[in-house]
Amino acid sequence: MVLTGLRGVGKTVLLNSFRSMAMQRLWGTGKIEARPDQSIRRPIASALHMAVRELAPRHRAPDRIDQFLGVLKAFAIRDPAAPKGSYAAHLGIDVPASRGRADSGDLEIDLTELLADAASVASDLAVGIALFVDEMQDVPAADVSALCAACHELSQTGGPLIVVGAGLPHLPSVLSASKSYSERLFRYVPIDRLDRDAADLALLAPAWREGADFEQAALDALYAAADGYPYFVQAYGKVTWDVAAASPVTAADVGVAGPVAAGELAVGFFGSRYERATPAEREYMRAMAQLGDEPVPTAQVAEELGRKPSSVSPARDSLIKKGLIYSSERGLIAFTVPHFGRFLRAQPA
Ligand SMILES: Nc1ncnc2c1ncn2[C@@H]1O[C@H](COP(=O)(O)OP(=O)(O)OP(=O)(O)O)[C@@H](O)[C@H]1O
Ligand SMILES: [Mg+2]
Repeated sequence: MVLTGLRGVGKTVLLNSFRSMAMQRLWGTGKIEARPDQSIRRPIASALHMAVRELAPRHRAPDRIDQFLGVLKAFAIRDPAAPKGSYAAHLGIDVPASRGRADSGDLEIDLTELLADAASVASDLAVGIALFVDEMQDVPAADVSALCAACHELSQTGGPLIVVGAGLPHLPSVLSASKSYSERLFRYVPIDRLDRDAADLALLAPAWREGADFEQAALDALYAAADGYPYFVQAYGKVTWDVAAASPVTAADVGVAGPVAAGELAVGFFGSRYERATPAEREYMRAMAQLGDEPVPTAQVAEELGRKPSSVSPARDSLIKKGLIYSSERGLIAFTVPHFGRFLRAQPA
């Protein structure tokens, strides 16, 4: 399964709750957070190490575990970027690295073999392994391709190992650009804003647990402010809760809390991201913001800046790499952060 959505819609929260569900069923679990320019070889090795360690105490044949750990170690130390010697020790596997499996240096082959072996250890216990990959759009292109191939192989053999990814809305196109069959390989689940009932429940359920309630007008005002985005529901809800002196929470409480929450978001959620951009990238994002809140053609952004498309494409590419914007369809770009355009338009030039 692959979850996609804008910043702050709850993808990581969902991955974590899936992980808890898997653990409750006694599955082995591991999680990585992908980073641009970093091979997934070592993070995957650590995550699978964790997953198999969860299973090991229940396994009746310790030598099967050791055999797997030998393969895992061989896989991990095959990383060309690993400092010689030290990394294997760091991984904390005291079994010697084995030879001839998952250690070819070709990530596609190695990952396919490693995942198959991990799945087979889980099969012994009649459970599975769940591997979670957050920020999946940041997995380097060659590694995405290897990961898809390994998942494809697993789906053919029916090994009980699942990969659950999460990332920005362009993740499906990143995956299908790498392997065209990935469209059928994963179940894509777009995560979007909460509808009105869900947003209300997010506020009411914890309040009810404290014996408190919200006036209808307070809920109306909060929905108007948060627009159903979970992170904003949290931000506005928190300040409102702190401001309200008594139950029920009123629209007046929201009126006092709103500007405070907006100020906190301007610094923490929007500002921290804006700070990460260079002057040229900021200029690019301001031009995007001027064009409205829908995805815009890149050519139009260049036009807004009075520049040639080729001269602004480095700024666009680095913003994509920083995860601040994404390319929604061919030639169209949009902010990954909800309400970012609105935030930029409110900034003094
Ligand atoms: N089910 C939920 N219950 C309560 N709060 C939630 C839930 N989902 C999301 N949130 C709130 O939204 C915030 C952002 O969620 P999360 O970090 O999972 O988003 P994300 O989609 O992973 O964003 P990003 O793309 O920035 O990583 C959480 O810290 C929490 O405040
Ligand atoms: Mg996240």
